[in-house]
Amino acid sequence: MKKTLTDIDVRGKKVLVRVDYNVPFDANFKITNDKRIMETLPTIEYLLKKNASIILMSHLGRPKGKVVSEMSLKPIAIRLGKILGKSIKFVSENCVSVESKKVAKNLKPGQIFLLENLRFHPGEESKNDSGEKNKSSMDTFAKDLASMGEVFIQDAFGAVHRSHASTTGIVKYVKDAATGFLVKKELKFLRKILENPVRPFLAILGGAKVSDKISIIKNLLEKVDSIIIGGAMAYTFLKAQDVNTGASLVENDKLDLALDIFKKTKERKVNFLLPVDHVITNKIDFIKKNVTSDATIENTIDEAIRDGFMGVDIGVKSIEKFAEIIKSAKTIVWNGPLGIFEIDEFSKGTVEIAKVVADVTDKGVISVIGGGDSITAAKKARIDKKISHISTGGGAFLEFLEGKDLPGITVLPDKK
Ligand code: 3PG
Repeated sequence: MKKTLTDIDVRGKKVLVRVDYNVPFDANFKITNDKRIMETLPTIEYLLKKNASIILMSHLGRPKGKVVSEMSLKPIAIRLGKILGKSIKFVSENCVSVESKKVAKNLKPGQIFLLENLRFHPGEESKNDSGEKNKSSMDTFAKDLASMGEVFIQDAFGAVHRSHASTTGIVKYVKDAATGFLVKKELKFLRKILENPVRPFLAILGGAKVSDKISIIKNLLEKVDSIIIGGAMAYTFLKAQDVNTGASLVENDKLDLALDIFKKTKERKVNFLLPVDHVITNKIDFIKKNVTSDATIENTIDEAIRDGFMGVDIGVKSIEKFAEIIKSAKTIVWNGPLGIFEIDEFSKGTVEIAKVVADVTDKGVISVIGGGDSITAAKKARIDKKISHISTGGGAFLEFLEGKDLPGITVLPDKK
């Protein structure tokens, strides 16, 4: 068990909090989803109650060690200020500049300072042009960050799969470190489902490529009772079984891998479910993300897709079949949409399945959703408030499901 915020003394202290404010913006720099900001409020409010002064640290985008004005955290400082009803201190460009350090030094109890984008500084990721790490530059930056505060709180679940100056390097230079409430909640749900799930345990996996999800499938095969596969990934599995997949997206170099997974599911006696029918079309505009007026859209009669057509969503029979399995599960983990849900005509499968997951959650099932698109899909189905836990992690959530070590967690001290 890792130390958490309530296990360390933060009263009146200068507290460095790593958050993940890597939030989506529209073309006018308006934040389109502030979940990652809102989820850090319990930690911030607790620290304010303890009269701490708070230094928030985050990355935004991938500016690769250079100042990129479009990736400034300034709009986030403004939004956070509005949410909390207090002004948030902010210094542009360099988060460890003389001015930045001065603001940190003079920060009073109850005041909040949001540092500029950590990744504007080359020491955060410390990779040279060929992608190799430069440990000493990372270390110097970590030390610099640590010098601005006394204790460190890790509340950036979305970034704990990264070993950067602000996620791992900083820990050895502060007096004490612990998880914040956001990270604590994420770990509670994710560990519960992977380590001690109430059975039957079902995984729903969608997305385009088997290659992206292979490690997750392999890890989950050891833990779940059933796996539902949707999205374009399903067509690779179907083709591996000699089912006609027409013009659907198929990874032809992954057919053997798919067969290997079938073998493993049999050995492990895991119920492995593929779509039994599909929504198909002969035309689609991937750039504009819409269906052209002359396109034909059909529901297939079985799992086969005729030539010239591509699968774009699970069909009505698949929705029914998957819903039955969902209703018999007691724990559900979901990553990845089941069709091209961004296009309304092809979103039905994802939306209907999301509604069933929400319904069973209402009856006591534990449901966890995570990974970029899945969260957007849950929002589209208007069920995001009905799920037991929606992870703030993208890559971090996926790596957790893969069973990988999360360096930003591992580095934190254990509870005595
Ligand atoms: C995310 O959005 O998944 C996190 O903020 C991590 O971002 P990264 O993939 O750029 O490290």
